[in-house]
Parts: sequence; C-alpha cells; structure tokens
Amino acid sequence: ISLKNYNTFGIDVTAKHFVSVDSVYQLQQLLKKEKDIFLISGGSNMLLTKDIEQLVVHIDINGISIDKEDDNFVYLTVNAGENWHEFVLFCVDNNYGGIENLSLIPGNVGTCPIQNIGAYGVEVKDTITKVEAIEIESQKLVSFSNAECNFGYRNSIFKNEVKGNFVITSVSFKLTKKNHQLNTSYGAIETELASKNIKNPSLKNISDAVIAIRKSKLPDPKEIGNSGSFFKNPVISEMLFLELQNEYPTIPSYPVISSEVEKSETEVKIPAGWLIEKAGFKGKRFGNYGVHEKQALVLVNYGNATGKEIYQLAKKIQETILKQFRISLEIEVNIIA
Ligand code: EPU
Repeated sequence: ISLKNYNTFGIDVTAKHFVSVDSVYQLQQLLKKEKDIFLISGGSNMLLTKDIEQLVVHIDINGISIDKEDDNFVYLTVNAGENWHEFVLFCVDNNYGGIENLSLIPGNVGTCPIQNIGAYGVEVKDTITKVEAIEIESQKLVSFSNAECNFGYRNSIFKNEVKGNFVITSVSFKLTKKNHQLNTSYGAIETELASKNIKNPSLKNISDAVIAIRKSKLPDPKEIGNSGSFFKNPVISEMLFLELQNEYPTIPSYPVISSEVEKSETEVKIPAGWLIEKAGFKGKRFGNYGVHEKQALVLVNYGNATGKEIYQLAKKIQETILKQFRISLEIEVNIIA
C-alpha cells in the first residue's frame, strides 16, 4: 500500500507489507513472529526516501485513562495512537494544565517523548511521569521513568541508547487542576493575548493563541506536506557568535539552558530559521518542493516531491549555512534512507 497518507510530508512510497495494531497484546503477538519492523504512528517527524521492505507496523492503540487525581493534580495515561492535538484539546476542555502551549503539534502521543516536543517555552518532558514501551526482542512491557528518558532539547533516550529497540505503547502525564503554571513568556503569545485584551488568560485562551500563531506561520500538513522544523536550532560558541555579530549585527540568539547546566555562559542558541532566511532560501520553490515562505525552518512538499529531492535540498541548505556562517545544522527529522 502507499504510505502517502501515513506521513505528514505526504511522500508517496510503498509498503510491501502493512499491518495496523490496536492493542498491546496484538503488538506483542506480532513481535514474537516478526522483529524486523518499520514503525509508523502519526508519521509527523520522518522523511521517507524509499519504499519500505520491512513489515510496516502502524500503531493505532487508543484510549485515555485517568489513573488518579486529587485537588491539585490529575494523573493520566494515554495510549500511543491517540492524536496529540486532540489530547491537548481534551485537557484544555477539562481544565488540565501543562500542555496548552503544545497545541496543534502534529503527530501522536506515543511519539511525543521521542523528540521531547516543545514550543512556545514549554517542553513535554515537564509533564511526563512515565513512558511504557514493549521491548522488541523480549516483547516485555518496560516502564521508563521521566529521569530514565534522558530528555533534552528535541532529544531523549529513544533517539539514542535504546533507538530501535522499543515500541512506545503509552505515555503518562501529571497535569495541574488549579494554580496552573501558565507560560506566556513567548513574545508572540503575549502579543496575541494583548490583541484580544486578555489579561488573565485561561488554558483555552493560551491554546487558542498558540493555534493562531502556528496557523499564521506553519503550513498545515493536510494542505502542504511538511514535518515542522526540519533542523534543530544550533548551539554555537560565544566566540563564534561574537564574530558573526560583527558581520551580521542583527543576528538573533537565545541563552542555552540544558538539564545539566542552568545556563551556559559560553554557548548561545541561534534560530536556524534566521540563518536559512539570511542565506536566501526562505520561500524558495524548486518545482514540487521548497522552503516555506513564512518560516524558513520548514521544508515543504507542494505535491509530488520525492523524499530524495527534499533530502537533497536539506543537504544544500546545510552546505550553504556551513560555508556562510561556519555553523553545521543538524537535521531534526528522521531521514528514512
Ligand atoms: N526566524 C527568521 N526567519 C524565519 C524563521 C525564524 O528570521 O523564517 C527567526 C526570527 O528571529 C524569530 C526566531 O527565528 O524571532 C524564532 O522563530 P520561531 O519563533 O518561529 O521559532 P523557531 O526557533 O524557528 C522553534 C521550534 C518550533 C517551535 C517554535 C516556537 C525548533 C527546531 N523549532 O522554532 O518547533 O514551534 O520554536 O516555540 O526548536 C518543530 O519542532 O517542528 C517546531 C515547529
């Protein structure tokens, strides 16, 4: 079957064998017989560049359950196949706080821990208590605590040490029922709320603001194929930053805050979108594919692009940025080659 509708880039490659699983038990039975599998869930963070020879396993395990709650917090377990944004809306509707800034991010709940999705000052790691996954080799259900997930900026253990060894089946969250820790520090959210004259925002107000901002900048994968930010925002040395500032006085930067060091004095993060725009790629269209006109960090498929074409463009962007700014851009999307 064609995988075009199973990846948000809308790349038309073929799966020779395809199966959809809707329970942990079914997945365990399947893994007993076949271990060489290719997982697909929301397909929102991959670039497919060739047909898939392995058995494609679509994770369609659904359901949200409340494990416990008290006056202040609710603890939920959400199965991997639930759509991320629908889960966010469910939380906003029920006044569960913590993930409202992560509204409208494509993909499913099961993949949110892998790249520790983040936007507008919030990362999902701050609400995750546990990730359950089946070990492919043993078919055992294994539980990862938040600490064991080794979360970092667009990173986790699932992209590193245990990559390819597990299938995530559910994610557990701890969310607030009152005294919500609202995060409106991100400039665009402040502006959006101010424009609506909202002074004491509710979870819904923030979610709506984020939805409005994302809609104004990011292409809707249902209309134009894409995978969100194609690259990570690079972290560079203070020294290189000062050099670049001489050449490009308007270069934007953010302080680096990682889980190990509160704040790095010697490194800064640069928005890759700015570098790509400065290098002249923003809004450039090459036939079927190109760089989004409103956010240069997003590569897009206008219809019938192949994964190889988009990957070539990504490499060209990397080369240009390296030459022009002496910065190597790291690809964030999973390249399936
Ligand atoms: N910028 C440009 N030109 C562009 C795009 C960005 O100059 O075409 C500069 C501007 O200076 C702007 C700054 O970059 O102020 C930041 O842009 P934006 O707020 O759009 O955020 P970003 O750093 O480009 C990151 C995430 C996004 C997330 C936003 C908001 C990464 C790789 N990307 O983008 O995540 O939505 O912040 O928090 O960290 C994703 O991962 O798929 C994603 C969309």
